[in-house]
Amino acid sequence: MGFPHKHLIDIREYSREDIMTILETAKTFKQINERRIKKVPTLKGFTVVNMFNEPSTRTRSSFEIAEKRLSADTLNFGGSGTSTVKGESLTDTVKTLCSYKVDCIVVRDKHAGVPRKIADISGVHVIDAGDGKHQHPTQALLDLYSIWEAKGSFDGLHVGIVGDIGHSRVCGSLVPALKIMGCEVTLIAPQTLLPARPDVLGADHVTSDLDAVLPQLDVVYMLRIQRERFEGAPYPSLREYNMLYGLTREREPLMKPYAVICHPGPINRGVELDSYMADHPTRSLILDQVYAGVLVRMAVLYLLLGGADDGADA
Ligand code: CP
Repeated sequence: MGFPHKHLIDIREYSREDIMTILETAKTFKQINERRIKKVPTLKGFTVVNMFNEPSTRTRSSFEIAEKRLSADTLNFGGSGTSTVKGESLTDTVKTLCSYKVDCIVVRDKHAGVPRKIADISGVHVIDAGDGKHQHPTQALLDLYSIWEAKGSFDGLHVGIVGDIGHSRVCGSLVPALKIMGCEVTLIAPQTLLPARPDVLGADHVTSDLDAVLPQLDVVYMLRIQRERFEGAPYPSLREYNMLYGLTREREPLMKPYAVICHPGPINRGVELDSYMADHPTRSLILDQVYAGVLVRMAVLYLLLGGADDGADA
């Protein structure tokens, strides 16, 4: 049976079995990425549009590398160089692109819901590469892959997510993804950086006391302070934020001996993480997460474009 999804827009539509299929497939793509010729003909003849209407380093570059390593043709599109600045609507833009008979649109947008709208307009495969404060499902999958590889299993893991929960689309996908895999999840943030209803995300616990919970965590997932989305300072100073919520060298003795550190990037060094912890030789998974981005995005493209039955929708 083929993979039972046409799109990747909302991680909550994916089962534990679907997610394990993606992680196992990503693992098989590792050997392609570690040989001299890093390319297979799997998606030869398919055309993927990367529509990035918001800045990105990791997501955009890793999707493009994943597409090229699978031999797909790619069209990089978006930003100030398109006719949207002349007033063209999203619908007309998408219909124009689809006239080229493209097969998949990977989309990042500052507005929540744009990937779903594109799926409705276009009829082609759509992958959400981050929409507003809503979701970032391939980020959650690469995080799961990195944790799975480091820990060997999700059984009994307690994951703490620390920082700017309220503005985080990473959280919008990661919390449900961790719960689907059976992890215990704690959100850790000052009240001003929590959403109005943190319970809606589905975490097991919410606290503002990092030092109290740090000794219980197997994975410490630090979030970036998204200053570009603030409408007023939610803490007195970055220095105070760092003192209360930064993962610093001084806090390392509070961590379990084998606890690992994740961060989706980009990092505000000296704010949520100091360089000692960000570059920690045994604890930091941050560059493993970046590499996992290629593996997981190759797996998602392969499974959606190669595995979906025509007309399947989820
Ligand atoms: N983690 C993440 O989405 O990074 P970019 O914004 O650089 O893509």
